[in-house]
Formats: sequence, C-alpha cells, structure tokens
Amino acid sequence: MSDAAVQKGVPFCRPDVSAAEVEAVAETMRSGWITTGPKVKKFEEAFAAEIGAPWAVAVSSCTAALHVSLVATECGAGDEVITTVNTFTATAATIIQAGAKPVLVDIEEDTFNMDPLAVERACTVRTKAILPVHLGGHPCEMDRIGTLAKSHGAAVIEDAAHSLPASFRKKSIGAISDLTCFSFYATKNLTTGEGGMITGIDPAMRDRVGLIGYHGMSRDGWRRYLDKGSWYYEIVEHGFKYNLTDMAAAMGLLQLERLASMQKRREAIVAAFDSAFADLDALILPRARPHVGHAWHLYIIRLRDGALRIDREGFIRALADRGIGTSVHFIPLYRHPFYRKALGAEPSSFPVAERVFASCVSLPLFSAMTDEEMSTVIAAVRDVVKANRR
Ligand SMILES: Cc1ncc(COP(=O)(O)O)c(C=O)c1O
Repeated sequence: MSDAAVQKGVPFCRPDVSAAEVEAVAETMRSGWITTGPKVKKFEEAFAAEIGAPWAVAVSSCTAALHVSLVATECGAGDEVITTVNTFTATAATIIQAGAKPVLVDIEEDTFNMDPLAVERACTVRTKAILPVHLGGHPCEMDRIGTLAKSHGAAVIEDAAHSLPASFRKKSIGAISDLTCFSFYATKNLTTGEGGMITGIDPAMRDRVGLIGYHGMSRDGWRRYLDKGSWYYEIVEHGFKYNLTDMAAAMGLLQLERLASMQKRREAIVAAFDSAFADLDALILPRARPHVGHAWHLYIIRLRDGALRIDREGFIRALADRGIGTSVHFIPLYRHPFYRKALGAEPSSFPVAERVFASCVSLPLFSAMTDEEMSTVIAAVRDVVKANRR
C-alpha cells in the first residue's frame, strides 16, 4: 500500500463519473434543450428495457417518485401504508405528505428488511399499500409481501432506492409490483447527481404518474415548447413539479450503459471483503439469500455482541482515525423526534431494529474504488478488529 493511499484514506463513497458523461452533459447544455425533453424520453425507454418493465417515468428524485406513486394509488386520509422502521426518512415522510399514515414494522435479523410476519400482523382494513424497502440492495421477500397485499386489496409500492440492479426469484426489481421507485442520488449505484425513476406494470398507471409528476398536465406537456408542440395545455389532476432535466438524463443514459460493469466491480469488492474478513469472528458479514440478486449498494457488517472492547461508535471512530469513511443504515425512524411524536413509535416495539442499529456499520463500497483503496479498507478493518479483540 502506498503512503499516498494511507494519507488519503478512503471516503464512504465517490461517484463513478466518466469523461464521456461529462461530455454528454456539456453537449446537452450546448444543444439548446436543457430541461425535460428528448434525452429524458430516451432514458425512460432505455431504463424500462434494462429492467424488463413495460414502462418507466423519470422524476427528480426517489422522494418525488414515492410521493407520486402514493398519490397515484390514492393513498390518502384515513389510509394506512405499511413500511419498515429501518429506512431513510423519505420513505415515511412521503406517506405523510400524501395524507396517509405510515405503519412501521420491525425487520429481519439477517437482511435488515421488513419482516413479512410483522407486515401480516400490521395489515388492517385500512391498509392501502405496502411499501417494502430493499435495504442495501437485498430484495425483500416479494412473494409473501405480494400475497399479503393482494389478500387485503392493497397496492405494492417498492422503495428501490438501493436496488438497481437487483432481482427476486430471477425477476428484476422494477418489474414485479404495481410501482417501483428508484434513486439516482449521488451515492447510488447509478447516479445523475439527483434523479429518480418510477417503473410499473399497468400501462394506465404510466399516464397517471406522468400527469401527477408534471403539474397534472398532459404527459407530453413539455412538447409545447418544441416546433411540433402547441401552446395549449390542460391541467387535469392536482400535480407536482418533479421532472428530470435532459442534462441529468444525458448522464443517466451513459451510466445505464455502464451499469453491468459498475455492478461487476461492486461484486468484486464484496467478494474481496467477504474473503478478507472471513476469519474475523467478531464481525457478522452480509449474506445474500440464494433466491435474490443483490444490488450490493451497501456492505453492512455487524459487530458481534461482546466480541470487541469498543462499541459501534468506537469502531467507527477507529476507522475514521485510519482515514476510512463509514455510515450507518439507518437510524430507525422511531429514534427521530419527529416520528416518535407523530407516530408514537417506541423502541420497545422494534427489538430487532434496535439490536441491528446498535451493531451495524456500512463500509465504503463504490464502483470507482481502486484496488489500492480496497486494500486500505481491508487492512484498516482487520487492524481495528485485531487491536480491540477481547
Ligand atoms: C431507502 C431510501 N429511500 C428513499 C431515498 C430518497 O432518495 P432521493 O434522495 O433520490 O430522493 C433514499 C435516499 O438515500 C433512501 O436511502
């Protein structure tokens, strides 16, 4: 390992941006059309083809995608939407934004995903949708969730912010449920800086999410600025302004072309971590269930209870001292003052999430990681474990 690598350390994430992407964005900026237009349309078509979904509609973020999807499936006042307690605030905040009530459920100990048994217990006559989050890229148990939703007449809206590309029983995430929401935020497996995509099965839903995500205006409203377009438009729904720009789509199109190779790099890093940490019994390593294709957005390890002289905070600090960026996914929602107050959610109702939260650390995992950086992470983790073993 060179001194430069040691000095520089390894950030938690660095976006994987190619020179061709920089040029494509610059070319779009010079083209005279920088907001939603032909590049967005092309990106939607290419994304749907990649997933094997009948359609895809681009939006400005996964948060926007979730909000539009909840409104499109008519989740509103008096309705309940079941989701996981272990997620980013956007998952639950958009349920509240739509006017419905988030019903939080506990997670599985090995995947950190919503526990289907807890979902079953949470279903009521008011359940309007189930909103699974594929944490870190490991798909939830979609057959059980789909069956539960069907038996309660509820929609399934997937939060796939972490799960591109991923699959469940050989079916791509994005081609399974009513609606699936992806994120192209700076840290995600495919990024456009900020951005999102909704995919779906029902062709009628495509027009509906297109309307709701663009002022409630006819889907091709942007065409009114083109030569072929007309000045006339009608607002037919209550809508929001959640469109993606052509600059972002230009980047997304090229990211999509590199998705398979970026994914291969993530998998190689995961394989290297798995083998380098296999003998460290103080760590519990992430595992993919055999029937899923894992997107490996995150590599989440857990510290085995009582195995080290330091706690999770100490572990994070020791890695930071060695220049390694880490994160925690997630602070369970009930630990945030807002959700505690708004939903009356208490830690005692979520024993698995509490245990996982106390012991989990996300290590750096990004496709632009060099071999040298990978070795730096491995050496630092091994060093911290060895130095603090009981
Ligand atoms: C699980 C999950 N859902 C939703 C989001 C929101 O995504 P975006 O930043 O694209 O709005 C994130 C963002 O990190 C996330 O981690």
